[in-house]
Amino acid sequence: MKEQAFFTISWKDEKIIVLDQRLLPTEEKYVELGCVEEVHRAIRNMVVRGAPLIGVTAAYGVALAAVKASRGRVRSDVKAAVEFLKTSRPTAVNLFWALERMERVLQKDCTEEDLVKCLVEEARLIEKEDVESNQCIGEFGAELLKDGFRVLTHCNAGALATAGWGTALGVVRSAVASGKRVHVYADETRPVLQGARLTAWELMKDGIPVTLIPDNAAAFLMEKGRVDCVIVGADRIAANGDVANKIGTLKLAIAARYYDIPFYVAAPRSTIDYEVSCGEEIPIEERSPDEVKNIATCKIAPCDVGVWNPAFDVTPAELVTAIVTDYGVLAPPFEKSIERIRYLER
Ligand code: MRU
Repeated sequence: MKEQAFFTISWKDEKIIVLDQRLLPTEEKYVELGCVEEVHRAIRNMVVRGAPLIGVTAAYGVALAAVKASRGRVRSDVKAAVEFLKTSRPTAVNLFWALERMERVLQKDCTEEDLVKCLVEEARLIEKEDVESNQCIGEFGAELLKDGFRVLTHCNAGALATAGWGTALGVVRSAVASGKRVHVYADETRPVLQGARLTAWELMKDGIPVTLIPDNAAAFLMEKGRVDCVIVGADRIAANGDVANKIGTLKLAIAARYYDIPFYVAAPRSTIDYEVSCGEEIPIEERSPDEVKNIATCKIAPCDVGVWNPAFDVTPAELVTAIVTDYGVLAPPFEKSIERIRYLER
């Protein structure tokens, strides 16, 4: 596999180093997160973002709490860190999945010193497994893409949203690595512009052809016959296959169905929430009105206008053609195919 030209997160000398994604594409700056409060802030303010990367970051946040704890306080500080980090963002289930994994380490009967080592090890493992999962997703998903395919994507479900390779863009990367020509259309993804700032940036770094479009152009692009499939990531998938992903995903799925274009979701098993039976039960984050009223530091709306800014929407399972996971490509009915991979080992 081709070496990635950047990294999203790394654990070094008992510190977390992350790429500050708020500054891309103009500045490529790495920042240090030295305490749990900084980790919480980095997730909440989207210094790091994307469901899998949020999970990995939170896991390292717990490891950091363990490393920083004074003697006799490792277990209690770690528990407090887990609870605190759970409040950073509500929708991406990978956050809760990773925190639960870290919490399970506390059940080990060992010295505090060994516990700290185990917690750091677990966080490293979560990071490593994320990249491996994405490469599996990529290989399974690449089978769905034919040479010359034009893929429409939304938000950023790429290497930047993960510990590496990406989910939706991982599928594109794997197809390209296998010799297929793929052209990506990236929705700009208002209001935070993950498509314009991040997807365009990382694909261009990799030399994968990409065309940026305003969100409002997606349906017209489909109508023109210029989209062979849509591939998006997910923040949480319910047990029935309903998919929470970046706001605007639902609109794409509806348009794709109208124009008879396959609509694929690419996500690791850690994005499936077996405790949630359908999309209605998924908590949807609402973010600051400022994200809608400003672009960077430029005001684009009257100061006092009312704003509704949900960060995610839910696409009903019936609009999803297939879910590409690290355990294979799941077909409808999703209640059954999702249940089938629940306890599988890879
Ligand atoms: O608000 P964000 O940028 O964290 O939202 C990210 C998305 O919606 C992604 O599509 C999703 O997390 C999948 S990332 C592999």
